[in-house]
Amino acid sequence: MFEIQSDSVQKTIRLGRRLAENLQGGEILALTGELGAGKTVFVKGIAEGLGIRDVVTSPTFVIVKTYQGRLPLHHMDFYRLNNPQDLETIGFEDYTGGGSVLAIEWAEKFLSEIPRPYIHISFISEENDHRKICIESLDEPAWEIKFRNYDTV
Ligand SMILES: Nc1ncnc2c1ncn2[C@@H]1O[C@H](COP(=O)(O)OP(=O)(O)O)[C@@H](O)[C@H]1O
Ligand SMILES: [Mg+2]
Repeated sequence: MFEIQSDSVQKTIRLGRRLAENLQGGEILALTGELGAGKTVFVKGIAEGLGIRDVVTSPTFVIVKTYQGRLPLHHMDFYRLNNPQDLETIGFEDYTGGGSVLAIEWAEKFLSEIPRPYIHISFISEENDHRKICIESLDEPAWEIKFRNYDTV
């Protein structure tokens, strides 16, 4: 597990950008953490890193938004989903695999429904603009090596 302290919105965005450089398509990013912890800010950084020029906004109300960049990015939010059957309703499986990247906010709601391997990124709010961000990939040890380069963002 790799842990990094962010002390600004800009740093969280830079971390997202850096991680995006390492994406090849097919990755699932399970983002967890309270409201305001920085999940959407981080996905803005991922989008920037993938060369996406659209303004990325929270997908809470539409559940999923797709952006085109170096790789397609599906930005999903489980917040308004109530039970695992809702995943079928939204066609969750269609967004996994393939050559695209899937970033899921409020992933903790249905963590066990997310196919492995996935990269788990948790956000913890600390005082003021400080956030603790933990990145972990249980099933892909190769990823853990990449994370180590992120401490210079
Ligand atoms: N270090 C930081 N990283 C990310 N966001 C931060 C940071 N410090 C303050 N913020 C603020 O916290 C909020 C994070 O919002 P958002 O990314 O939408 O959270 P979430 O998607 O987790 O609910 C924004 O208002 C942002 O300006
Ligand atoms: Mg959000």
